[in-house]
Amino acid sequence: MKKIVVLVSGNGSNLQAIIDACESGQIKANIAAVFSNQESAYGLERARQHGIAAHAISAQDFLTPQNQPDRQAFDSQLMKQIDDYQPDLVILAGYMRILSANFVEHYLGKMLNIHPSLLPKYSGLHTHQRAIEAGDKEHGTSVHFVTEELDGGPVILQAKVPVFEDDDAEALAERVLVQEHQIYPLVTQWFVDDRLVMKGNHAYLDGQQLGLHGYAED
Ligand code: GAR
Repeated sequence: MKKIVVLVSGNGSNLQAIIDACESGQIKANIAAVFSNQESAYGLERARQHGIAAHAISAQDFLTPQNQPDRQAFDSQLMKQIDDYQPDLVILAGYMRILSANFVEHYLGKMLNIHPSLLPKYSGLHTHQRAIEAGDKEHGTSVHFVTEELDGGPVILQAKVPVFEDDDAEALAERVLVQEHQIYPLVTQWFVDDRLVMKGNHAYLDGQQLGLHGYAED
């Protein structure tokens, strides 16, 4: 069985969708551990409820002599602890911390992220609000391989949702989450089944190079 490690910072509803898909057999892998940079992340509690090892690492414990956050030291420790589980795949599920170049390099080709926008639109934060303010008629979410460019790695799969006139960011985020819970387990399944690889700066599904917006049926 392949092993997955998941990183979360908050609620962990995407983590839950992946846990459920592992437990139902849709994904033929085990989640070996969940890590968070936030001790209070509900995602850690979800892991414990399913008998999955749950670890928090606090950025406060990794400061430079000048008392500044030491990203390298934090990421090195995280990497060491992740590697104790020898994962085949690392999944970022609402992990809200910028990754150091070493960390990204170490898991290149075996680390996935989900980002709440139709990339390459709206990398970074506040994606729902930005889509509303731009007057977009559709919005969505993207699963992609993680590379050094923030939210810039090759897209694997996207899901679209409509934006309604009276939407606020919260309503739109909820609509997007429903789609995320469908596509993230599916992409994880593809990876675990060895159907999905990253080569160069491209994602390939069943040997076919995916385009700018990933796999698209329409
Ligand atoms: C999800 O919508 C995910 O796309 C987003 O955070 C939310 C986490 O929800 N991720 C990012 O914004 C990463 N840049 P969850 O904790 O309920 O899975």
